[in-house]
Amino acid sequence: MQAIDPVAPASPEALGQRLFGATVAALDLFAVHLGDRLGYYRALAEGGPATATELAERTGTAERYAREWLEQQAVTGILGCDNPEAAAGDRRFRLPAGYEAVLVDPDSPTAAAPMAQIVAGCVKPLPQILAAFRSGGGVPYEEYGDDLAEGQAGTTRPQFRHQLGQEWLPAMTDVHARLLAEPLARVADIGMGLGWSSIAIATAYPKVRVDGFDLDEASVAAARANATAAGVADRVAFQVRDAGDPDLAGRYDLALAIECIHDMPNPVAVLGAMRRLVGAGGTVLIVDEKVADRFVAPGDDVERYMYGFSVLHCLPVGMTEQPSAATGTVIRESTMRRYAAEAGFAAVETLPIAHDFFRFYRMTG
Ligand SMILES: C[S@@+](CC[C@H](N)C(=O)[O-])C[C@H]1O[C@@H](n2cnc3c(N)ncnc32)[C@H](O)[C@@H]1O
Repeated sequence: MQAIDPVAPASPEALGQRLFGATVAALDLFAVHLGDRLGYYRALAEGGPATATELAERTGTAERYAREWLEQQAVTGILGCDNPEAAAGDRRFRLPAGYEAVLVDPDSPTAAAPMAQIVAGCVKPLPQILAAFRSGGGVPYEEYGDDLAEGQAGTTRPQFRHQLGQEWLPAMTDVHARLLAEPLARVADIGMGLGWSSIAIATAYPKVRVDGFDLDEASVAAARANATAAGVADRVAFQVRDAGDPDLAGRYDLALAIECIHDMPNPVAVLGAMRRLVGAGGTVLIVDEKVADRFVAPGDDVERYMYGFSVLHCLPVGMTEQPSAATGTVIRESTMRRYAAEAGFAAVETLPIAHDFFRFYRMTG
């Protein structure tokens, strides 16, 4: 995604217009979520153009709702309508050519339906989020439900599949060589969620064994099923575990944590545990948000995106234990370097990997 110029409302009217646009965009996003979850986009991609009756039959949904959704999608310019002048029940709607890459294919680099799902997950516990703002407490990860975990996994899965073993890990040439070599290398994947990073590593490196650790029981159960379906369950194992547990033991060639250090109440304890897991001379790879070096307001789209997730999700989940580092999504490079130093790392290298949203920290020593 390209960052655009910051939007600074010049007048109350301009602000009102801007928020009207945001309202329309939010409604679009939730309607995309309906189409994704109900299988409407997939049914149109696989079965071709459909009337409301045909779409309802293909998906096992109610015709009147399918009709309203189809009309909404055409009006908002996502679906095409071949015969808008026809009677409502005879109108035929289609998914424009190429849109399945954005709305249907989970492995597509341009998949965007998971964005709608993750936002739907973010607002699920809205009453608890409001209460947390008042009390200073947190909102447990599990309160956000499957949509948050699945949406998160949906946004990162295509990147793991296409880039993790092909670009990100090979950027550390010595680590890459070790993962390809004998004897079998071991990788610890911290906060792996639904397990797609572990599965991608095991797929890219056929001799590697991966252990994933995550606090969320539902995510670990889903990750196990995903590894089995991907045919790598013999080399990939998942445990429900707090990554900051001082008893976390093992000896690994690489420990990595992707998009999760900023969510943790005690990131220094987790980095310290990862440092122990790789031992002297080992490598820890942290992939986390690529935000500005300092507070800049108004910010660009990436900064707005990060702060949006921070107020709704990342800060509340990071406040579930007290005391908390209370990092939030906007984890600046200086903050990450401070956490690394406090965890005992001697060196932090920022890897030269081009990415709009992620920064890659190699921690050693
Ligand atoms: C934003 S998700 C990232 C998931 C995955 N790494 C990805 O990039 O798609 C954060 C994950 O960190 C896990 N997590 C948070 N705190 C943790 C802790 N202390 N120990 C282990 N996992 C933790 C959560 O349960 C969640 O699955």
